Amino acid sequence: MYEILAMIELAIWFGLPAWIANSMPVLFGGGPPIDGGHVLKDGRRILGNGKTIRGFIVGVALGTLMGVGQQMAAPFLQPLLETYVNITPEMSSILHMSVPGAFMLSVGALLGDLIGSFFKRRADIKSGNPAPMLDQLGFIIMALIIASPVMQASALYVVILISMTLGIHWISNAMGYLLGLKKHPW
Ligand code: CTP
Ligand code: MG
Repeated sequence: MYEILAMIELAIWFGLPAWIANSMPVLFGGGPPIDGGHVLKDGRRILGNGKTIRGFIVGVALGTLMGVGQQMAAPFLQPLLETYVNITPEMSSILHMSVPGAFMLSVGALLGDLIGSFFKRRADIKSGNPAPMLDQLGFIIMALIIASPVMQASALYVVILISMTLGIHWISNAMGYLLGLKKHPW
């Protein structure tokens, strides 16, 4: 029972750099777009104005910084975790978060976001308009792939992390709806 709780906590811990990298550009992005305003033969932008150089850099920097903070916090959190669960080597390696790993998770998250944007433009979805699933999952899947040479987690962690990523979007959208900030609860 407590093992499951610990696994959920560690799955969140593993995903934090990618989540931070993906969400911070909304607050600190802006400025020149990565695609330089270029339009492809289909008449549509490569990526669009929503994908900026500053957003990318800020995302990578803050996601990596998150990883530095997690690594520093790990020695203090380990005794807390040990009070209710036997720490496996995998749990320990996730808890101690590698900084290169956090960097790769962040780069992957933002690359996934760009790839998603590229496909949205090809499908004629305007910048800022939603592409359900792609918007929520593209970044986390790419983060896991890009980080995999330096940081892996077993399938169960990956499944928990992906479900949590979807769940958080669902909860935040539902809350936005209940608070009257959004027109639809999805
Ligand atoms: N943002 C940014 N740079 C990035 C990613 C995001 O500046 N590399 C900022 C932009 O202001 C963007 C906002 O964060 O409008 C929200 O990001 P996102 O939802 O990923 O982009 P969209 O505007 O929805 O664009 P798209 O349709 O291409 O996904
Ligand atoms: Mg969007």
